[in-house]
Amino acid sequence: MAPELILASDGGGYDRQAELKSFDDSKAGVKGLADAGLTKIPRFFVHHQLDLELDRASESLGSSSSVPVVDLEGVGRSWSPSERKRTVELVREACETWGFFQVVNHGVPAALMEEMVQGVRRFHEQDLEAKREWYSRDYGGRKVLYNSNFDLYQAPVANWRDTLACALAPRSPDPQELPAVCRDVIIEYKDRILELADTIYKLLSEALGLDPNYLKTIHCGEGLFFVGHYYPACPEPDLTLGTGDHTDSGFITILLQDQIGGLQVRHQNQWINISPIPGALVINLGDLMQLISNDKFISVSHRVLAQKIGPRISVACLMRQPLPPENSSRLYDPIKELLSEENPPIYQETTVKDFVTHYYAKGLNGVSALEHVKL
Ligand code: OGA
Ligand code: NI
Repeated sequence: MAPELILASDGGGYDRQAELKSFDDSKAGVKGLADAGLTKIPRFFVHHQLDLELDRASESLGSSSSVPVVDLEGVGRSWSPSERKRTVELVREACETWGFFQVVNHGVPAALMEEMVQGVRRFHEQDLEAKREWYSRDYGGRKVLYNSNFDLYQAPVANWRDTLACALAPRSPDPQELPAVCRDVIIEYKDRILELADTIYKLLSEALGLDPNYLKTIHCGEGLFFVGHYYPACPEPDLTLGTGDHTDSGFITILLQDQIGGLQVRHQNQWINISPIPGALVINLGDLMQLISNDKFISVSHRVLAQKIGPRISVACLMRQPLPPENSSRLYDPIKELLSEENPPIYQETTVKDFVTHYYAKGLNGVSALEHVKL
């Protein structure tokens, strides 16, 4: 499909594999290209079917809708039953129609969020010789790594983005295994995000009409995979993307973005900006949540534009399955309580391991990994 098409149109002696390899071998990432002062982006970053100028124009004409904002002030403490009910209702509506919402007053301190962004910035902006030590694609062998485009060799086209990645739960690396420039903040941030995830899972369980602890008891909340993205300023932002159109693989993602903007979600056939709100976190549902909810909740495509300004920094906590060996063979299928004669299961059962292996093997190619498990 897409990869062959692009290869076929890249005649004229262009050796895409060699270009990818030389970029990868530099271990300097997209930041290395930006720092070198390129005025044209390398060809393997060019998205051939992109008509961003059109997209940007239609957005400025303006769809007035935006992702719902949920205020969590007092959740679990001072909420009256009617407040709780109202919030659960808001969350349900957001999960059914957007697959996204933003949360404010969520208990993660603003200063910690700012320090988290700065920690990711320090990592990516440190001396190249030191940063190169972390460069790897060996997710099985390395606990903490950095690279550019996890799917560089699988996806049809590369994105204008570098990423620091590590699994932080259920097992966290020893502090000394984390990069010194952001070690302390990663650990503190992770603890607060796990607390928030607990709250979110309760609200989602209730929004599905289930016991508040339901999602916790099926172990949706145990794994936390951390990705600290760095999107350098791009000289030709209309030709590429910061992150291509994709859905997330796990149950939920808790995303911290700085104030630059560029994140968009697909809604009613349009790309809608998820504008940064100071102090807010973005919550979105992943493919496995759509699967277990049997399409009641949706995992929706999103992307990040490349921009002339930058860097843009974001931190996504992908809340998902525990890593092997814990539960890697656990089966997920549509929740029985949500099924009926009129609402039969849409998906077959899958192990988290198979599902995620498939997701990573295909890369960000615009095809939902859920297609793989449809009945
Ligand atoms: C992701 C993602 C968006 C962003 O990491 O899956 O969609 O703003 N990130 O970086
Ligand atoms: Ni995503």
